[in-house]
Amino acid sequence: MDRYLINGGKKLYGEVEISGAKNAAVAMIPAALMVDGVCRIENMPQISDTDMLMSIISALGAKIKVIDPTTVEIDCRSVHNCDAPYDKMRRIRASYYLIGAMLGRFGCAKTTMPGGCNFGVRPIDQHIKGMVAMGAKVEVKNGFVYAEARGGRLNGARIYLDKVSVGATMNIMIAAVMASGRTVIENAAREPHIVDLANFLNSMGADVRGAGTDTIKVNGVERLHGGTYSIIPDQIEAGTYMMAVAAAGGEVRINNIIPKHLECISAKLVEMGVDVEELEDAVIVRREGPLRPTNVKTLPYPGFPTDMQPQISTALCFANGTSFVTEGVWDNRYKYVNELRKMGANIEVSGRTAVIEGVPCLTGAPVAACDLRAGAAMVIAGLCANGVTEVEDVHFIERGYEDFTGKLIRLGADITVVRDPDEPEKVPMFAV
Ligand code: UD1
Repeated sequence: MDRYLINGGKKLYGEVEISGAKNAAVAMIPAALMVDGVCRIENMPQISDTDMLMSIISALGAKIKVIDPTTVEIDCRSVHNCDAPYDKMRRIRASYYLIGAMLGRFGCAKTTMPGGCNFGVRPIDQHIKGMVAMGAKVEVKNGFVYAEARGGRLNGARIYLDKVSVGATMNIMIAAVMASGRTVIENAAREPHIVDLANFLNSMGADVRGAGTDTIKVNGVERLHGGTYSIIPDQIEAGTYMMAVAAAGGEVRINNIIPKHLECISAKLVEMGVDVEELEDAVIVRREGPLRPTNVKTLPYPGFPTDMQPQISTALCFANGTSFVTEGVWDNRYKYVNELRKMGANIEVSGRTAVIEGVPCLTGAPVAACDLRAGAAMVIAGLCANGVTEVEDVHFIERGYEDFTGKLIRLGADITVVRDPDEPEKVPMFAV
């Protein structure tokens, strides 16, 4: 199994470049299926989730040309096939966007129930509710989702989401782009990647309005044309480096970011005694003195992101006092706490709240990356611990962080990546 060996105790100094937003990219690649032309996407993050999605759409017949390491051209004009490789789809959460894209393009879809990180039950009932309201017949049977638009084309509809869902908002938006008439999504999620997906679709000829508010209106068009689009910087990747500096100490300039997207994270860091200096498209994070405790509740955007919960909880292990972290989005997102306890953390979880008593130090230990963000949190813990931390299951981390260890090593971290010769070598799509 691939592992990272982290020799803790080094402060972080220097500059780091943030890559394109994972959660925008994983929706745009399936959405490219609907484009009648060449879709050039820039600032594409080089992570295994985007590789996986590109290999899924290329198995469907998409032609993918790599222009440079972060620019791809996707041409789906010759895709006539609805039969996606199910073993791959099952491994990735964002494969649910293929339902919306295939319904929009072909009027039918067959996919597996999505995989991805396990934070407890991850239903897709709101996605299905949206597709059904637009006139699709949807059946979930034996782990597969079968969907068919009555009359071969979806119809615009008014859809009120019972839960603020990022995935349902984006999936319905994709499906509605080429539906007949107007779709209105109410109680929509407002994350930056939702706005980015809408901008991407509009740059290809769609008519999506209101993304970033809780009401999104999509006027269906007959066709999407090719175009060029550059993905926004990844809010969570940037936040993860901010939290790493807060925990390990030092001073790092984090480049290629949108400071507005980081306000909720910056505000918590300031409460914790960290200096955060905002520049136009960069942020400088500095921590010299002790960390102060704070209370955090994760919420949909613009609240504090759930995808930053393991990282801030880890930083708070080093604070001078007691912090309360409450998870407001997922039922079960504290599995990593057991791993932190192996390193000496003092955390008690009761329901959706973690009570974190700061400790003077953590001690290196073998720990597992339970999921993508929990894995990043283990690396942060390792950066600050005394001795060597061995992080296993790092494939979770590589799903969503481009060159995580390389970027940290360039900031002064002492990390050795151990590749298991028995694990199949990962040849990223971008490399071919
Ligand atoms: C996306 C992100 C994930 C992030 C989450 C919340 C991707 C690929 N993943 O996941 O990293 O943690 O947003 O910011 O973009 N729910 C339902 N029914 C549904 C859909 C969701 O009940 O049909 C519930 C979920 O169980 C959860 C909440 O709504 O409690 C939010 O889920 P959602 O925003 O949909 O998360 P994802 O899109 O899966």
